[in-house]
Amino acid sequence: MQTREWKRILIPYQQAVEELKVKFKSIRREYRKRNDISPIEFVTGRVKEISSILEKAKKFDIPLNRIEYELEDIAGIRIMCQFVNDIYKVVEIIRNRKDMQIMYEKDYIFNVKESGYRSYHMIIKYPVYTAFGEQYILAELQIRTLAMNFWATIEHSLNYKYKQGIPVEIQSRLKAAADAAFTLDQLVLDIKDEIMDAQKLFEVKSSLVTDITNHILTLISLGRMKEATGFQSDLEAIISDGDILELATLKEKIENAVVLYRGKAFN
Ligand code: GTP
Ligand code: MG
Repeated sequence: MQTREWKRILIPYQQAVEELKVKFKSIRREYRKRNDISPIEFVTGRVKEISSILEKAKKFDIPLNRIEYELEDIAGIRIMCQFVNDIYKVVEIIRNRKDMQIMYEKDYIFNVKESGYRSYHMIIKYPVYTAFGEQYILAELQIRTLAMNFWATIEHSLNYKYKQGIPVEIQSRLKAAADAAFTLDQLVLDIKDEIMDAQKLFEVKSSLVTDITNHILTLISLGRMKEATGFQSDLEAIISDGDILELATLKEKIENAVVLYRGKAFN
C-alpha cells in the first residue's frame, strides 16, 4: 500500500482521536467549573505511526486488508488520574455513555502484567462521521494513574533502546520500580481525603480572591480609589497570613461596599 493510501485510511482515526480527546477533556472541565475535583487529570491521544502499524501487522501475521479490524490500537487515548479509584470512576463514566460502545475491557491493575505494567484498558467501537458517511473505528483507551504512566513511559523507552529485549537484570529492577510506583499509589490513596481537602480549599480560596479582586476593580471604576486601595491592602494582608474565613468576611464587606457605592453612583 502506498503512503498516500495509508494517509487516507488514517483520516477517520485522526478524527476519532481528536473527538475523543475533546470529550474526555470536557469531562474534566465540567468538574472544574463546578469547583469539584475531577477524576481525570489529563488526556493524551495519538494515531499509531504507519511504520508501527506495519511492524505490528507483520509481528502478528495480520494481512494488510484485515488491519482495520484486527489492530485495535491505531487510535489510542490515554486518560491519567490522580488516584487509583478515580480509574474505576472513569470506567463507570465510559460504561454509561451512548456515544462509544465497549468491545471488551482488560484490568491490568488487578491482573498486573509480567513486566509490572498496570493500567485499565478498554477497546471501544466509535462512530465517526466523515465527508463520505458514517464509519465505525476501534480505539484503545488506557486509563492509569500518574505513577503508572510514569513507569510505563520509562519502560517503553527502555524497550525501544533494547530492541532485542531488556536485559533480565534491568527487567527485575523495572518490576521493582513498578511495585514501588504502585505502593506510592496506595499511600496517596490512604491520604486521599486530606489531599482532596487541600485541593478543594485551594479552589475555594482562589475563587474568593478572584471575586474580591473583581470587586476592587468595580470600586475603582466607580471612582472609589481610597476604598479600593484599602480593600487591596486588606486582601494582601489576608493572603500573606490570614485564613479562609477572613477571606470570606472580606468578600462580604467588599460586596456591601460595592452595593452601597453603586447605589450612590446612580443617585
Ligand atoms: P499489544 O501487542 O500492543 O496489543 O500488547 P498486548 O496485547 O500484550 O497488550 P494489550 O493489547 O493489552 O496492550 C496494548 C498496549 O498497552 C500497548 O500498545 C502499550 O501501550 C500498553 N502496554 C501493554 N503492556 C505494556 C508493558 O509491559 N509496558 C508498557 N510500557 N506498555 C504496555
Ligand atoms: Mg493487544
